[in-house]
Amino acid sequence: MYDLTKFTLRDMSEIGLALRQNAQKADCMEDASNLIVKYFYENLIDKNTEKKSCILVRFFKTHPYGKLTPELQEYVRKILKQNTVVDNLKCLTLLATAGELPEWNSRHKSIGHKVIPLANEDTINRIPMISQLIRQLGLNTGMILQPDANLLIDTEQKMYNVFYVGNALNSPYIPAQKSFVIPFGVKSVIGFGGLLPSGNMFVILMFLRVIVPQANVELIRPLALNVKTAILSFDHGLIFRETNQIPVNEHNILKRLNSQIGTLNQLLDVSEQSTITQSDRLETAIENLQQTLKRLKKTQIQLVHNEKMSSLGQLVAGIAHEINNPVNFVDANLSYVEEYSQTLLKLIEIYQQQYPDIPEKIQTEIDTDELNFIKEDFSKIIRSMKVGTERIQEIVKSLRVFSRLDEAEIKKVDIHQGIDSTLMILQNRLKAQFNHPNIEVIKEYGNLPEINCYPGQLNQVFMNILTNAIDALEEQIGHRGWTTKYTEEDIFKPFKIRISTKVIEKKWVYISIYDNGPGIKKEVRSKLFDPFFTTKEVGKGTGLGLSISHEIVVKKHGGQLTCNSVPGKGTEFIIQIPIPKGS
Ligand SMILES: Nc1ncnc2c1ncn2[C@@H]1O[C@H](COP(=O)(O)OP(=O)(O)OP(=O)(O)O)[C@@H](O)[C@H]1O
Ligand SMILES: [Mg+2]
Repeated sequence: MYDLTKFTLRDMSEIGLALRQNAQKADCMEDASNLIVKYFYENLIDKNTEKKSCILVRFFKTHPYGKLTPELQEYVRKILKQNTVVDNLKCLTLLATAGELPEWNSRHKSIGHKVIPLANEDTINRIPMISQLIRQLGLNTGMILQPDANLLIDTEQKMYNVFYVGNALNSPYIPAQKSFVIPFGVKSVIGFGGLLPSGNMFVILMFLRVIVPQANVELIRPLALNVKTAILSFDHGLIFRETNQIPVNEHNILKRLNSQIGTLNQLLDVSEQSTITQSDRLETAIENLQQTLKRLKKTQIQLVHNEKMSSLGQLVAGIAHEINNPVNFVDANLSYVEEYSQTLLKLIEIYQQQYPDIPEKIQTEIDTDELNFIKEDFSKIIRSMKVGTERIQEIVKSLRVFSRLDEAEIKKVDIHQGIDSTLMILQNRLKAQFNHPNIEVIKEYGNLPEINCYPGQLNQVFMNILTNAIDALEEQIGHRGWTTKYTEEDIFKPFKIRISTKVIEKKWVYISIYDNGPGIKKEVRSKLFDPFFTTKEVGKGTGLGLSISHEIVVKKHGGQLTCNSVPGKGTEFIIQIPIPKGS
């Protein structure tokens, strides 16, 4: 079963093969055309509704009056209201029909279309569908009425085509609107056919209850040639079942063979053409798919990013909030502790002055507890506790600045504050660890104006780039351990991250983050900003840091994010954010 709305090259080839094989069982052209129309009627279905796609399928062929059956000749005379008709008058003859109503399954039962005499160009023009069909086939009416034997060989092998009326309702080409198109729900009409070596034209008309996409109509074109091949052997032979066999002469056999070869060649040509068209369609589909994939990846990054950002922000803000209260509490109470302790110490001192001779037990206790040392150390401890709480308060503030949860909208901020808060969070990774010495952070901050930006997102960019720099420096330790490609100076060089900022041409805020790590190889550099590109081991990197940063800097801020790197020397990422006029 085949669905014209989802027609494929494969369907076309299978139908073509079936038509040609079926026709081999036929004894005359009428039989062959019956098998053809029945095949179309039975095998084309609308897979959505499981209904047959065709309401009616008809096979017409032009035929000279003199060679029509007596029944048809009588019919022609009646239509023309003449007692005699010339033998070579062309008549469009219904050879086979298959359809929904019982009377549509026998050509003898057709009332209006059994045979249509094509008396002259005027009569043809009065049947718009037929004249349109002739034109679509690349013929002119003259060729149908009186084919020129010399021209014929040439034209016969070129002329085949398909024509399609996409909207049958009210179409000037489709007759019987009230009695047929409307009541039976004819949506579209496909016609295809060609010219036979005898100079006669054949045509198959399919009245459909479906709309066929243009690309699929194109695929039907080669079927015209398959039908022609299927009926070719009868062109100079037996047409109607009830007529006696017409003797076939050698000239006719040669003509038929030539035509058969020509037709088969054409068939090959169109098959190839169709393959090309189909492969073009495939390529377009692949291209579309690739674009969809790209979009999907982008959406995925965005989703991961949003998810990452909001959960990180919430976590950080949550922790900051939780720590803030008890720290403030401790900090506020420290001053009382200091005050009370001073009072107590003072009291002891007064006691000592008023009662210089104290009992031995108390003196021993004072000696063993080193009261003098306690007096001195107590205030130092309280001072260091104060420094500690101040430090915690600073970290909490940085965490809040970093998360910027409350600032999803564009805001005027100090970029340096964002960088500092990020560094504060990364403090632990910058300190000497078992796998790397202390990483020195050199700040070369210029004079930056406050700029309009998404502060939380920019902090994310600083975080991604700084984390990569620390990762790269740590990775270098691995290299230092086992490779000889580094010089002694290299091996013992201090680890550095340099952050410099400045304003360029009053138009850009320029932020450079440089590390003296191993640098990036050329082949890696071209993929740096690709989503999911990572050189880190599984579980360590997702490969999203830089692509997200690129998105934030370029798309969100209209800025630029670039990378300079010399393998063995280090890497520099440059972020440039435009300063809006009037900032
Ligand atoms: N400063 C740097 N020095 C050397 N290589 C770097 C540096 N920054 C980035 N890279 C290289 O670029 C790759 C991609 O970086 P990106 O930040 O996009 O992903 P990642 O760090 O691997 O994973 P993620 O950031 O998602 O955890 C890294 O795997 C690394 O190979
Ligand atoms: Mg990264």
